[in-house]
Amino acid sequence: MKYKVGVCQFKPKLLDLEFNLKKMENILSDVEADLIVLPELVTSGYIFCEKKEVQSMAEKAEEGPTSKLFRKLSKKNNTSYVVGFVEDANNKFYNSAMLVNPDGEIFVYRKIQLFFEEKFFFEYGDLGFNVFKAKKGVRVGLMICFDWIYPEAARTLALKGAQIIAHPANLVLPWCQQAMITRSVENQVYTITANRIGKETNKDKELTFTGHSQIVSSKGKIIKRLSENEETLFVTEIEPELADDKKVTIHNDVLKDRMTEYYL
Ligand code: ACM
Repeated sequence: MKYKVGVCQFKPKLLDLEFNLKKMENILSDVEADLIVLPELVTSGYIFCEKKEVQSMAEKAEEGPTSKLFRKLSKKNNTSYVVGFVEDANNKFYNSAMLVNPDGEIFVYRKIQLFFEEKFFFEYGDLGFNVFKAKKGVRVGLMICFDWIYPEAARTLALKGAQIIAHPANLVLPWCQQAMITRSVENQVYTITANRIGKETNKDKELTFTGHSQIVSSKGKIIKRLSENEETLFVTEIEPELADDKKVTIHNDVLKDRMTEYYL
């Protein structure tokens, strides 16, 4: 089955939810695909100095402005979306991503491997690594940014049947894009890393994000890697069923042949 997937590289405006949602709506409103992945915390920006900034960006997954916009876009464009946001779950704040489907269904992942000062502002994700059905029943596993450095995250998603790993990110270290090729190869899954671009400052803090969002095939081919600095939406066709074949030779299946008795 041909499946149209997209990756949206974006620069959010810090602490301006309304502006960011409007800009995303403009970029996405006339684009039909099957699945489009957007960056981590794309609704809020990344650098927080105080908990009350986090709180001001936080929303309920099911009822907030982000799910409202993406439900509308999803229905209109018959497209599933994965989008990062600040989740408020009973006054606990999570660095989360939601998968929004054209039928209005929403699934949530809460980031498990918190990076750097995220540890001061967010709770650790408590929902595990899970795989959900997106449009046409394609199985999409969710992880966020720094989860990449723990191969167990992508492996868990592959063992749970993911054909595509949707990976919203705000990358600042130099290794992830190369590492995700390996995550694809070792699990024989497609990976879509949607990164943000630009320099962000808040008081005396500053970070530069690395761009180079990418789509990698289940055989480890970089189907597309975007530039370092441009806000872009790229859409292409893939075949998700190719990720169901875990054989790398006729005698080696990357999942079935795991020698689990030797692993910690
Ligand atoms: C990251 O996890 N945002 C690097």
